[in-house]
Amino acid sequence: MRILALESSCDETAAAVIEDGRKILSNVIFSQIDLHAMYGGVVPEIASRAHMEACGRVTRQALSEAGMALEDADALAVTKGPGLVGALLTGVNFMKGLAYAAGKPLIPVNHIEGHVSANFLTSPELEPPFLCLVVSGGHSHLVLVEAFGVYRLIGQTVDDAAGEAFDKAARVLGIPYPGGPGIDRLAEEGNPRAYTLPRPKIEGRYDYSFSGVKTAFLNLVHRLEQNGETLNKADLAAVFRNAVAEQLTDKAELLLRDRGADLPMAMAGGVSANRELRRQMQAMCDRVGVRLYMPAIGLCTDNAAMIGSAAYYTYLKGETAGPDLNAEPALRFV
Ligand code: KG4
Ligand code: ZN
Repeated sequence: MRILALESSCDETAAAVIEDGRKILSNVIFSQIDLHAMYGGVVPEIASRAHMEACGRVTRQALSEAGMALEDADALAVTKGPGLVGALLTGVNFMKGLAYAAGKPLIPVNHIEGHVSANFLTSPELEPPFLCLVVSGGHSHLVLVEAFGVYRLIGQTVDDAAGEAFDKAARVLGIPYPGGPGIDRLAEEGNPRAYTLPRPKIEGRYDYSFSGVKTAFLNLVHRLEQNGETLNKADLAAVFRNAVAEQLTDKAELLLRDRGADLPMAMAGGVSANRELRRQMQAMCDRVGVRLYMPAIGLCTDNAAMIGSAAYYTYLKGETAGPDLNAEPALRFV
């Protein structure tokens, strides 16, 4: 079964053709980063307009790179939430029109389920149940994937998401949006032990908190600036990246040990592209004795291939959308 999928929840207009939920026939990403960079973040109105201009182009390109015409697709899929309402609506309306015109079923997809499903593309042998650390711009969740599309929440951030914290830390270092990849690159040259940041005390055994680390980091940078010191940005980036990666990895380890290492671990979302997090999670899983699944780096951040994979399993459960499909900006996944 070949699905043409579209993703437009934030600042990437992406289209892909995926076969049987596992095989990428094409994967086209039009990034709007250049349009938003001068504002230091995504401007919703600009995003909606850019999606509108790009939807037709990226879907045509995805079909052509897959060597297909629209008639050859068995179904279409689109991200229905969570995300920016205008951005989502653009994609939802475009795909509703296309599905109606082509007489194809339309499959609505939860963006975060898409991130989890990126693992099915990179590791065709992966099947539920498994545990998953979901870390993106808006999510820091530890979940149990019980079956395809069936998730149980185990832990989550009590304040900021990990990606959000990376973006804010990057801003004080003068790294342009989106800050996560910039901090990651800079941190490779820095010393993670140059400064110490506090470890949060959190009640929930598997919960996260990044707001304290973020504030301590901002205070540290301001103190150094006030003392007239030249900032060693690489060291600072490495210190911050390490604090976030350690916290994420420690809780995942606690969960695995509590469960007696009975299930493999996976990672998903933009922050799972972070090199230090990937190294620490790999070392931890080797120590604990479970297999770690990670999406290929290029499939961690927003793309439509992951939407096409999630759509396949959604379709197998018999879920398709009618013409009343609406965007759901605050859609939950657990
Ligand atoms: O999953 P994603 O692409 O979009 C959402 O669904 O939110 O995640 C975007 C987030 C941003 O906060 C970005 O800074 C962060 O993921 N990110 C990273 C890296 N690549 C993207 N954070 C740390 N290290 C990275 N290499
Ligand atoms: Zn995302």
